[in-house]
Amino acid sequence: MKITIGSDHGAVALKDEVKKVLAEFDVEVKDVGTFGTESVDYPDIAEKVCADVVCGDAERGIVLCGTGIGISIAANKIKGIRCALCGDVYSAKMSREHNNANVLAMGGRVLGFGLAGEIVRAWMTTDFAGGRHERRINKIAALENK
Ligand code: RB5
Repeated sequence: MKITIGSDHGAVALKDEVKKVLAEFDVEVKDVGTFGTESVDYPDIAEKVCADVVCGDAERGIVLCGTGIGISIAANKIKGIRCALCGDVYSAKMSREHNNANVLAMGGRVLGFGLAGEIVRAWMTTDFAGGRHERRINKIAALENK
């Protein structure tokens, strides 16, 4: 699986940690930055990560900012993206099982590395359940065209 990851300056350390966790899986990770402490705008990072997901270059994306809020809002403006901001393991599982989330968002100023790692592991190992959830996903897609 190919995963594209990106963060603003508020979550560079978390991005490095998440990449370590992703190394536990059979995944190819593309990091679109940012790489330092210089301030960048999280919508630009969301756009880069989600572009890979939408065009199919990446199956999934991970976006990070200080809270995870701004970058998840930005990601969800992009057609075809279902971005889940997760701060707990249960939500991470459900975001895959029920919502088929193709992008995970987390906050670098919110989560400790231990919890963030467990969130990533849950998100990576949970499959979409389909069934009635497929109908709801399709309704989300329909909202994009209204
Ligand atoms: C950047 O200072 C901060 O606003 C950003 O990382 C994020 O928390 C926004 O939602």
